[in-house]
Amino acid sequence: MLLHIPGLFAKDEMQRIRQALEQADWADGKITAGFQSAKAKHNLQLPEGHPLAKEIGAAMLERLWKNPLFMSAALPHKVFPPLMNCYTAGGSFDFHIDNAVRQPKGSIERVRTDLSATLFFSEPEDYDGGELEIQDTYGTQRVKLPAGDMVLYPGTSLHKVNAVTRGARYASFFWTQSLVREDSQRALLFEMDGAIQQLTQDVPDHPSLIRLTGTYHNLLRRWVEV
Ligand code: NI
Repeated sequence: MLLHIPGLFAKDEMQRIRQALEQADWADGKITAGFQSAKAKHNLQLPEGHPLAKEIGAAMLERLWKNPLFMSAALPHKVFPPLMNCYTAGGSFDFHIDNAVRQPKGSIERVRTDLSATLFFSEPEDYDGGELEIQDTYGTQRVKLPAGDMVLYPGTSLHKVNAVTRGARYASFFWTQSLVREDSQRALLFEMDGAIQQLTQDVPDHPSLIRLTGTYHNLLRRWVEV
């Protein structure tokens, strides 16, 4: 399931973040790539643990933990701290699948990459190219979102970033280990949760709502891993 989460940050917040990123010291993006994907990856990245990456990452996680769409779709267990990247001057990242397990620098905990996410910091009109292309069951999806918007997609999908031929594309990406490993099961729970939320608004006193909500939790209990 591919999900667009709009408006995590306001336009003025995005502008401040971009200004800070424009002045940062960038490193070669190959630093966090696996052996094979290093060959496909041509971009810039803030080193893991960079103070600015930590600051922006913390702000992102604070927003995400309050975002009902993210919570309902990702059912997050733990997150790999967000990384910041920049594509410019023809930079691109050819088709690859992300490593299955990630260990944050200086941490003993590992994160299984059930879900990948990209939060766009640059406005689409400020650069040419730079679309995130994701292959899913319905074909290839091309994603290029307004600044402050995020896309969430299964970590199992083949994806790439097209070359940026004008301007610069600033973004953040991170991985989430979900309480529910399987994408199909998460998709079903997300659909059911959405329907329950809608019914709670439209017919709040209907007695079947309690049974439906109970069924949601009983399904979750079958599939959850903690
Ligand atoms: Ni990737």
